[in-house]
Amino acid sequence: MTGACLAKYNHKIICVDINREKVDMINNQKSPIYEKNLEEILKEYKENIKATTNYEEAIKNSEITFICVGTPSNNDGSINLDYIKESAIEIAKQIKKLDRWHIVVVKSTVIPGTSEKFVKPLLEKYSGKKAGIDFGLAMNPEFLREGVAVDDFLHPDRIVIGALDEKSNEILKKIYKDFSKPIIETNLSEAEMIKYASNCFLATKISFINEIGTICKLIGIDTYKVADGMGYDKRICRAFLNSGIGWGGSCFPKDLLALKNYAEKNNIKPYIIENIIKRNDVQPLILIDLLKKHIPDIKNKTIGILGLSFKPNTDDIRYSRSIPIVKKLIKEGAKIIAYDPQAIDNFRKLYPDQITYCNDSDEVLKSDAILIITEWDEFKKLDYTGKIVIDGRRIKEAEKAKIYEGACW
Ligand code: UGA
Repeated sequence: MTGACLAKYNHKIICVDINREKVDMINNQKSPIYEKNLEEILKEYKENIKATTNYEEAIKNSEITFICVGTPSNNDGSINLDYIKESAIEIAKQIKKLDRWHIVVVKSTVIPGTSEKFVKPLLEKYSGKKAGIDFGLAMNPEFLREGVAVDDFLHPDRIVIGALDEKSNEILKKIYKDFSKPIIETNLSEAEMIKYASNCFLATKISFINEIGTICKLIGIDTYKVADGMGYDKRICRAFLNSGIGWGGSCFPKDLLALKNYAEKNNIKPYIIENIIKRNDVQPLILIDLLKKHIPDIKNKTIGILGLSFKPNTDDIRYSRSIPIVKKLIKEGAKIIAYDPQAIDNFRKLYPDQITYCNDSDEVLKSDAILIITEWDEFKKLDYTGKIVIDGRRIKEAEKAKIYEGACW
């Protein structure tokens, strides 16, 4: 994403990956991930972007290297820095051979302190050079949402540049000069924390409104109206106050766990983060409770699932709220039929046998009851009349069902 979007701003980009297949795809202007408008950019700016598996070729011919590798969770919730380590060592070995300045920018989400205490020593050790003197080091987090990442990159709310040295700071500011958005200049760790705190706060908003939502549902209040009313207050803001069955994806769950783990390891009790996660864990199962209100024994009943991805416009199922729901349905002996416009192939890897995957959303309507898990646009066009629908994502059109229950409304 960084490569493609900077190519659009006329920078010459060389992407490096150890995966030959991804490299070939980029060189053939095919996006290795499902992401709106990415392939179009790869095609339109193909003169500006190429990919290679060769670090030497990339670093010899460039001035800045962005580290954009994944930082997945370890079993205990802490972040796994293996890919950061591997890439930092490879970059350092190339910096060693250079007789000019090169900047390394960490873009991956890493726990505060990582660039300074983990990446910098690796770069120095394997290059034999000094950070801030012989080469530059910076941290430049991204705030992109999957599915609309191109748009988020091109129209950011702010740009955060955490730099070890003034020269790197100035060069990075030049890269982003055409964005005409506020640039926040910080040190390395502050930039890293801005990213974590932002994701954590967004997840807090969702968990908070979900808790308010469950109380609203009990009283018979429409949580969405409550969110609208709150959102007009500039201090609160309406965004990320859509209640439902909670947050998933590759970022919030991993980042909250990592911050919680880091706090605990350092003897700080993460009271708030702990409870944001707890609320999110119970939230999807509310759908099953609501389902049982209408079909008390779901054993051998056919339950239709609309949506498997963690949100619309992506094929990503990581920490999707569909997973705990499917798990529970299987445990209770329900027969599951499911449809998702993009995520079936990924979900099939998790559940190859216990789910009947449908070719279109209409097939799912033939079930005894329907659970809406992801708010894909096409689910708004279905005819729900005469059905039992339990809605986790507020598809207003489903209210026409014979029995309709919303998660928090
Ligand atoms: C999130 C952040 O929004 C990005 O700013 C950040 O850059 C990114 O993580 C990252 O760290 O890389 P993303 O995971 O793509 O982006 O997805 P979001 O659009 O934030 O949605 C996350 C989850 O929250 C989804 O499951 C979504 O359904 C849920 N959500 C979102 C709600 O339940 N209610 C809302 O009001 C908003």
